[in-house]
Amino acid sequence: MTLRPAFADTPWFGGDYNPEQWPEEVWEEDVELMRSAGVNLVTVGVFAWSLLEPEEGRYEFGWLDRALDLLHANGVRVDLATATAAPPPWFSESYPESLPVTVDGVRLSPGSRQAYCPSSPAYRSAARRLARALAERYGSHPAVVMWHVNNEYGCHVSRCYCDESAASFRRWLKAKYETIGSLNAAWGTAFWSQSYGSFEQILPPRATPAFPNPTQSLDFDRFSSDELLACFLEEKAVLRDVTPDIPVTTNFMGTFRNVDYWTWAPHVDVISDDLYPDPADPDAARGAALARDLMRSLGRGKPWLLMEQSTAAVNMRPVNVPKAPGQLRALSYQAIARGADGICFFQWRQSAAGAEKFHSAMLPHAGTETRIWREVVRLGSELGELGDLVGASTQAHAALVFDWDSRWAIEQTGLPATSNYLALVAPWHAALTEAGLTVDLTRGDEDLTAYPIVIVPSLFVLTDAQAKAIDAAARAGSVVLVTSQTGVVDENLHARLGGYLGGLQQTLGVWIEEFWPLGGAWARPGAIPVAPESTVAPTVRVRGSVFGPEAIDGVEWSESVHVRDATVRAVFEEGHLSGWPALTRKAHGAGAAWYLATRLGRRDTAALVAQLIAESGVHVRTPFIDGEGGFVETVQRGDTLFVINHGTTAVTLGEEGTDLLSNADSLGLVIEPQGVALIAPMEACLAGFRATDSVIASAPMPK
Ligand code: GAL
Repeated sequence: MTLRPAFADTPWFGGDYNPEQWPEEVWEEDVELMRSAGVNLVTVGVFAWSLLEPEEGRYEFGWLDRALDLLHANGVRVDLATATAAPPPWFSESYPESLPVTVDGVRLSPGSRQAYCPSSPAYRSAARRLARALAERYGSHPAVVMWHVNNEYGCHVSRCYCDESAASFRRWLKAKYETIGSLNAAWGTAFWSQSYGSFEQILPPRATPAFPNPTQSLDFDRFSSDELLACFLEEKAVLRDVTPDIPVTTNFMGTFRNVDYWTWAPHVDVISDDLYPDPADPDAARGAALARDLMRSLGRGKPWLLMEQSTAAVNMRPVNVPKAPGQLRALSYQAIARGADGICFFQWRQSAAGAEKFHSAMLPHAGTETRIWREVVRLGSELGELGDLVGASTQAHAALVFDWDSRWAIEQTGLPATSNYLALVAPWHAALTEAGLTVDLTRGDEDLTAYPIVIVPSLFVLTDAQAKAIDAAARAGSVVLVTSQTGVVDENLHARLGGYLGGLQQTLGVWIEEFWPLGGAWARPGAIPVAPESTVAPTVRVRGSVFGPEAIDGVEWSESVHVRDATVRAVFEEGHLSGWPALTRKAHGAGAAWYLATRLGRRDTAALVAQLIAESGVHVRTPFIDGEGGFVETVQRGDTLFVINHGTTAVTLGEEGTDLLSNADSLGLVIEPQGVALIAPMEACLAGFRATDSVIASAPMPK
């Protein structure tokens, strides 16, 4: 049996619908308002376990029967949740050993959500049972078009350190290493007297007196991601068994740290994402663009679903600024531009009680005479007209390597410096995006030769497969940039001996002797940080013509770079590395390989990216003729060019065509802040074009 199509003729539009929070009289109003807002998909039952199974093995499906029938009668489709993300009180009472344990040995209590250990056999079997009961009851319900397994795996508990997790970790290690000897070799246990005599002696990296074993910690990160995936796969297997033709999803969380989405993505029929950019962050739209590109890339270009976003304020931050007027629309179009075929929200009706009652919703506390409701209705009606975009592909000009092993490893302690991996990657994405390029993310171990530009930021753990793919891209003609702290260790976190950079030394024509991090305050994990200067950072003077005639600031980092066969394009001008290379370039095969031995501020990142673009021959479409007030996003999907003004001043379009949203001529059209234009038809661009057959041909408009 083949899967039914996951998307409809027009983009999905809707949100989490939690009818169990309201008396049934309210449901009639819900569906009537859903119809008037153009809602065609809702996710039902995400946190309804305690009402669906009020006692072990006793189900109460009557209310859900009535809710689904009502939705169906009103033409609203259902993404039905398996409801396993919040075990009910009876479950924690009967199986207290299923409650998760923190690194410090604290067993967490029920009374919130996600209070389960992913390795708990009791949890696993209860989740499978509930999934089966729901699949058997609703698998043939005409409203159900998709299964929504669990919710945001790992959001609150992504690592559990209990005895059950320890046992499962040992099984995972046995399968990976087979013998205790090979584990000892991989973990380097000769250091600090850690040699294990048997697998039974191994524990998770619980709180220790000094640094834990780094490879043990990385293996525990990998194990924990796999363990959550195993929870998903067990539920998915049950659903496939009962309803082999209904697509299955589970909602990812953008660039979430603790789960390696590259290993998950092949198992998910529909990639779906929850993203809550902070409206108080002026860089929020830039960071969000990265998360959207990641979703498209995880699905290898397949359409994905924006499963959750807020209409205005969230309530999870210390201060929750609402989205600006129009911002929910602008950010929704950003998702569509970058490959989403559906826009949904958390949640349909704003809760009156519970922990999230001050979180915005499609239908606010104040009802329909509200700004938010009007914005929701407008978006719903516009999306209803955009059927032609469904299934169209978004084409990228550059690849950016994004790797969870490197992320986990470079954020460990006991390093030259503990870094924030996202802060090393996001500025490159932001610079490419602001230059008008669209970026695919990649783990870096696949064929990259079709990309005119490949950027490899701080790939700390470099595998041979990654080194080979990056080298092959440069040889085939890509312009490759590799940045500091790449190729420092192998998959077991053993140092690459003989100068850092491992297998990329040949490609780049340089090798690294010593790391020289600068003293001072550093960026720390948090929001998606697209520019290092958003924090106060230590700097070192760097000079190179790529950056203009003046010396610029290298930020946070320096390294001693030895050149074998590359040209030096910038040098450090002060400190102990004064006179040493900061930036090198080697002509390599048909392409080029650049190495950057420091980090850069926003302006200088843009300057280097401009150099790479010029060298690659990619012609960038800049469809607006003014706009100095911030980020104006341009992305082409199918034959439609999206122009989204996330800035603070209006821009004027200089592109011929018709704006699909206003039906106006696009040439001379003014786009206000938070405004959007969808210009069509545009000449389609091809994937994998090169300088010689460039197809984004429209000439930049004069300023
Ligand atoms: C998500 C979650 C939703 C809701 C939302 C609030 O993490 O899946 O259930 O809590 O955040 O922003």
